[in-house]
Amino acid sequence: MVGRVSREPADSDKGRVSAQRRQDTRQKFVVGNWKMYTTAEQAGRLAKAIVEGVGIDDRVSVAVCPPFPYLALVGEILKGSRVALGAQNLYPEKEGAFTGEVSPTMLLDVGCKYVILGHSERRHKLGESDAFINQKIGVALAAGLRVILCVGETSDQREAGRTEAVLGRQLIKGLAGLSADALAHLSIAYEPVWAIGGRGHHATPQQAQESHAVIRRRFGRMFGERAAQSLVIQYGGSVKPNNAVALLDRHGVDGALIGGASLNADQFLAIIRAGINEPKTRGEQP
Ligand code: 13P
Repeated sequence: MVGRVSREPADSDKGRVSAQRRQDTRQKFVVGNWKMYTTAEQAGRLAKAIVEGVGIDDRVSVAVCPPFPYLALVGEILKGSRVALGAQNLYPEKEGAFTGEVSPTMLLDVGCKYVILGHSERRHKLGESDAFINQKIGVALAAGLRVILCVGETSDQREAGRTEAVLGRQLIKGLAGLSADALAHLSIAYEPVWAIGGRGHHATPQQAQESHAVIRRRFGRMFGERAAQSLVIQYGGSVKPNNAVALLDRHGVDGALIGGASLNADQFLAIIRAGINEPKTRGEQP
């Protein structure tokens, strides 16, 4: 059982939260992280179905992040649509003798606009440090890519009441040395590690909103209130059509980074509609 968020907003924070609601005009951003899934044939079919289903309503920005080998193929299908292309990682050098790695230049060359960095699967399964992620963010932004930085606590950290400290550390170290101007092209995905992968947990809308407020407050202390108010913060971790409306309805939850459900075009499109908040979506509770 996952513990509750370590603190309720203090009275002094409540004023700030309601001020934030009044200014909450950020465009929602829904991204599919296909992780290490799909064949070329499946990737092409999925991309086509998303392009056909996404429509022209641009109230929600949309991107998909296929595995490296299918970026070019999916990029061709997305051309002329309002679905942007993103990658799941990069190596922080322009080129060089780095066997097996992929540079920001290469990603731009195949049409990527976004790159996901700091995903918990890379932090925990591949041992990526905050310092290495920081280096990647700097190089990606300088190259002209938009960065989706993932942060989030493990269940042990949450149960120990360390959520806020962990998020703070990931932001301070991950964004060290970067300027507010450079960070105009950065969004953050709050992905609690315990909620990823559909193992039965997803953060409640309240938990997501509280952690998003922690991230925005910390970001504001680092880069100023204006930068914090325009920062897009997505939630990621078992987002499905049946919980997307409740999550995306929360002020300060500016979109979603979706794993499993993004591999199914119908589910992904339903989550995008939840972001648009069409009345008919509200009745969709499979
Ligand atoms: P799931 O939606 O499968 O839980 O994955 C979330 C995620 O890790 C997206 O980056």
